[in-house]
Amino acid sequence: MAPVQVKKICCIGAGYVGGPTCAVIALKCPHITVTIVDLNQARVDAWNSKDFDLPIYEPGLVDVVKQARGRNLFFSTDVDKAIREADLIFVSVNTPTKKSGVGAGFAADLNYVESATRRIAAVATSDKIVVEKSTVPCRTAESMRTILEANSKPGTHFDILSNPEFLAEGTAITDLFSPDRVLIGSLQTESGQNASQALAAVYANWIPKERILTVGLWSSELSKLAANAMLAQRISSVNALSAICEATGANIDEVAHAVGFDSRIGPKFLRASVGFGGSCFQKDILNLVYLSESLHLPQVAAYWRQVVEMNEYQKSRFSKTVVDTLFNTITGKHIAVLGFAFKADTGDTRESASISLIRDFLSERAYVTIYDPKVEVAQIWQDLQEACPTTPLAQIQKYVNIVHSAAEACEQKEAIVIATEWKEFLDIDWQHVYDLMTKPAFVFDGRLLLDAEKLTKIGFTVKTIGRGGRV
Ligand SMILES: NC(=O)c1ccc[n+]([C@@H]2O[C@H](COP(=O)([O-])OP(=O)(O)OC[C@H]3O[C@@H](n4cnc5c(N)ncnc54)[C@H](O)[C@@H]3O)[C@@H](O)[C@H]2O)c1
Repeated sequence: MAPVQVKKICCIGAGYVGGPTCAVIALKCPHITVTIVDLNQARVDAWNSKDFDLPIYEPGLVDVVKQARGRNLFFSTDVDKAIREADLIFVSVNTPTKKSGVGAGFAADLNYVESATRRIAAVATSDKIVVEKSTVPCRTAESMRTILEANSKPGTHFDILSNPEFLAEGTAITDLFSPDRVLIGSLQTESGQNASQALAAVYANWIPKERILTVGLWSSELSKLAANAMLAQRISSVNALSAICEATGANIDEVAHAVGFDSRIGPKFLRASVGFGGSCFQKDILNLVYLSESLHLPQVAAYWRQVVEMNEYQKSRFSKTVVDTLFNTITGKHIAVLGFAFKADTGDTRESASISLIRDFLSERAYVTIYDPKVEVAQIWQDLQEACPTTPLAQIQKYVNIVHSAAEACEQKEAIVIATEWKEFLDIDWQHVYDLMTKPAFVFDGRLLLDAEKLTKIGFTVKTIGRGGRV
């Protein structure tokens, strides 16, 4: 049996992963029809909007969609039709941390994966290759296969592949154009390997063959969790060292630079910050913790749990630095928070450190003015309401103001906090900001973004993550 040649792809889930990933596949494979479907009508409408006002911000994404949409790339809410017509289906739905029930707070909520799988089984009338694109716990493919086989029409055959996505938000398009690797996991049967080759052939349209790795299904599923856990672990390691730097007068930039020069360690992902955010790192580590506990490996679980605990510590340590520095009280004081997205070049706010900081400031009854270049105002209110569930939104709104420029945010504040490393904050007229601020004027740089020396010369008191006061 030869591998099928993929002609029609359906992607279930038009989010941060499904949208960009399958838009790039459509761009690079004009001979394949790609339909990205979602139940969320507003999201699909935005993908289809005439003026390309897409539902997510990602540098380069509009260009990709402009080239492929209407040619061989389509966005739709007709999930059943797209499933029926496709020979390969990506399942790219959300897998958030469970909020209740067994494993609440740790395990992945596989409800969306399961309902997408059940939909495939219910409507498919021909053989399909079903690809897990979502990040899932090890051996989820087995459950998917059981559901598909138990509910399929007679004579319909399904192959399941794992093809985790390694893109990073903010650089998704360059990551997808030139990934470090593409990972495809399959069962080691003839049919599984043929399916794996069919998907590899799709990627081979633009990715060198040596970067397409084919492995077993369970290794592929676990590799995604492992990669995220190890990336987050580097951040927590450098953040742990930043606390030592602040206490000793060492400089975390210098330490990270020196450490990263070791070719066994390497320079990437060694930047101290107010803490990692995003929809994946914390969720995937907690998932790994849950998996380790389920496998009766408590020491392994504790090891990975500490990566998340260090991140929480870093965020609360930073809030405490702000309060301590502003003479042990911020009640009634005015603080500008620059940046609300979890990192630069994205509008995504999931698990953003900014949310924790602002929640802490509000609990001290400080007044907070927020500016972010890409995050929607409604999203900020929603996130703050979720972060302070017992406070009515009207009460939050008495203390929080959302503005449309950094200059406006900084006007007449006691302190400015850099929470996201947006490049445009480098262009702020700091002399002007200083002139308008209550003195002493404080800047807290949670992202190692600003030139602290220059600001100090202007007159600011600058507190930077990982830089001690002692010389
Ligand atoms: N965001 C990232 O940077 C990133 C990177 C790598 C992997 N991942 C993983 O990829 C997966 C998707 O992440 P995301 O950030 O794109 O999530 P997302 O929430 O942005 O998108 C998921 C989409 O799936 C849709 N959906 C859910 N159930 C559906 C169903 N049954 N039928 C049709 N549509 C359905 C939702 O409406 C939503 O639009 C997750 O497992 C995540 O862990 C995310």
